[in-house]
Amino acid sequence: MANAKEAVAVSPVPFADAGDADAVQDHRVKEYAGAISALPSNPKLRLRCYQGTWVRERWVPGIMAIQRSFTPRRSGDVVLASPPKCGTTWLKALAFATMARDAYPPAHPDHPLLRLNPHDCVPFMEDLFAAGWGSKLEALPSPRLMNTHIQYSALPACISTNPGLKIVYICRDPKDMLVSMWHFIRKTSQPDLSFSDFFEGACDGVCVSGPIWDHVLGYWNASKASPETVLFLRYEEMLRDPVANARKLARFLGHPFSAAEEDSGAVTNVVKLCSFEKLKNLDVNRAALSSFPFRSDVFFRRGEAGDWANHMTPEMARRLDAIVQEKLRGSGLSFA
Ligand code: A3P
Repeated sequence: MANAKEAVAVSPVPFADAGDADAVQDHRVKEYAGAISALPSNPKLRLRCYQGTWVRERWVPGIMAIQRSFTPRRSGDVVLASPPKCGTTWLKALAFATMARDAYPPAHPDHPLLRLNPHDCVPFMEDLFAAGWGSKLEALPSPRLMNTHIQYSALPACISTNPGLKIVYICRDPKDMLVSMWHFIRKTSQPDLSFSDFFEGACDGVCVSGPIWDHVLGYWNASKASPETVLFLRYEEMLRDPVANARKLARFLGHPFSAAEEDSGAVTNVVKLCSFEKLKNLDVNRAALSSFPFRSDVFFRRGEAGDWANHMTPEMARRLDAIVQEKLRGSGLSFA
């Protein structure tokens, strides 16, 4: 089992443990911040529309910096992509545990995920680059693991057309995503946000990473065009069969579970380590986060499919389903 110091020799390294002595802060992000005021805004949700997507205002300079200065490697980079509230935390844990399992066996009592929130293991690119610290990624050994909420069409070509870089996308039923997002926004910034107002905006495409149908379609089409570089996962399917999805993820990442690992229970151990119940109940996941200005527990709420029924009337659900179905028509993708 590698400890934090030895971890420089293995990868992916938990981001919070990585050394970054050589990182140089990029002050150009201050110029990018100057461009924000010209973008369409939704002050209520503190969103700006950047290149067709509604994103958190503070992410805009980060997205610009990623587009201009992200330096990919020839091979080994893995980008986890998602709209917010679709299982990013879970995917971070699963991808980290799967990729790092030789250095950190999933059943080991000192596994990094037992002492670090998944967001402290896998960096969020928008925030990192918005702070001018994209160069911290340079210090990481390959394979590097990182995540973004950027829509597919706004990814720099060095990410979207790089045959040596893998993208794993996760999405979920937009109704559950919206309910999860509404709870998250209420807990972290706007306790008085009404669900009906939030819902109305989302039906018009205005929510974090909205329009949600565009976000999902971009990655869906990319996964169809290039299945070897873009893996499209669905939260509900992962809940239904987490073991099969962990195997699929490992195969896609080029590190399938061997027969010996299957026999020793490695897949089940990864799934158990990353399960909602396990992560939610760890002390570290109730504490403050180093990577976000709120507590870890906001990322663990119910961990189920179908909570939308507790917040939407059947009419609201039918309306959103119809909008999404229409937008996805002909794509082969459906949430019905
Ligand atoms: P709910 O709010 O519906 O419970 P994200 O990580 O993208 O912010 O998504 C958060 C959603 O994923 C929340 O959904 C959260 O409870 C759920 N979640 C977090 N960790 C999970 C895990 N290990 N397994 C399943 N769901 C998880």
